[in-house]
Amino acid sequence: MKALVLSGGTGTRLRPFTYSMPKQLIPIAGKPVLRHVLENIRECGVTDIGIVVDARDRHIAAAFGDGADLGVRLGYLRQEQPLGLAHCVALAREFLGAEDFVLYLGDTVLPEGIGTLAAEFAARRPAAQLVVQKVPDPRRFGVAELDADGAVVRLTEKPDRPRSDLALVGVYFFTAEVHRAVAATGPGPRGEREITDAVQRLVTEGAEVRAAEYGGYWRDTGRVEDVLACNRRLLEGVRTAVAGTVDAASRLTGPVVVEAGARVIRSRIEGPALVGAGSVVEDSRIGPYTSLGRDCVLRRAGLADSIALDGVTVDRVGGVHGSLIGRAARIGPGDGRHRLLVGDDTRVEVAA
Ligand code: G1P
Repeated sequence: MKALVLSGGTGTRLRPFTYSMPKQLIPIAGKPVLRHVLENIRECGVTDIGIVVDARDRHIAAAFGDGADLGVRLGYLRQEQPLGLAHCVALAREFLGAEDFVLYLGDTVLPEGIGTLAAEFAARRPAAQLVVQKVPDPRRFGVAELDADGAVVRLTEKPDRPRSDLALVGVYFFTAEVHRAVAATGPGPRGEREITDAVQRLVTEGAEVRAAEYGGYWRDTGRVEDVLACNRRLLEGVRTAVAGTVDAASRLTGPVVVEAGARVIRSRIEGPALVGAGSVVEDSRIGPYTSLGRDCVLRRAGLADSIALDGVTVDRVGGVHGSLIGRAARIGPGDGRHRLLVGDDTRVEVAA
């Protein structure tokens, strides 16, 4: 089996971060979303992975290279325009050859992994096996209707009036039978060649299409709230590991990771929390569900339920929570008044 990971998209709902990086590289519990995806794929024994990228491919290639660090073989396929998920599969036709494959949207977080789903698919090998989950509002997803036996009878992409509450989570298993259906699928109402329509074509033609209901945690990291929620969920899984230094005047409670070269001085850290390599936390308080990237500096600062990307400085500002702070951002006191140098589409909420 091979894997095809889709890692394009403008990520408008994650601006301003996505002005300078693809959304799949936003770190969650210290690792880019895409790394969590690639690890899930590797854990089910799949090592031949194609990543569909767009014009920002160099960021992704710089982060993952040929995949050797992860123990996989990565190849990159460039999609010049956002023409849809089925178009991505068509682009990868040669890479995928006649093999079964898993199609995985690169901003999908599934902390429990996909091992059981992959085994289920391998045992039965239907033309398609879709991963679904019940959601309260299915209108922003592809929606599957099933018969009593778990076979898919109809699929609709983002229906106004959903006929079922089973949303497609963004992971699909296919045999090579899908390629014919993909080739025959043109653009839908939003101008994209939808994978949902290609799978519907398989259903119509009488091919076996199954749905596997996923009971575990699932989120796509489309919005800041989702990114923070995934960070909380993934940090819950960390175990205390201190490779950096923590002085005697500091106190760590709960699971806390202090990476190599990081220093914690006269501070309190309440886990789950992660302090990235080379960061300095001095006279500060870090609350639960917080992860700092590499080379951050916190001085007399307080940060909780937040993600700071690499190189962030927070100086003499407490009570920061629920925040996503971009690379090398500096937050600190000025001349007594508020002064904001904030980028496009930034959100600032103050304690007024
Ligand atoms: C895509 C799929 C949709 C699926 C969703 C999962 O939508 O088209 O069927 O439910 O991913 O996140 P998109 O995120 O491209 O709007």
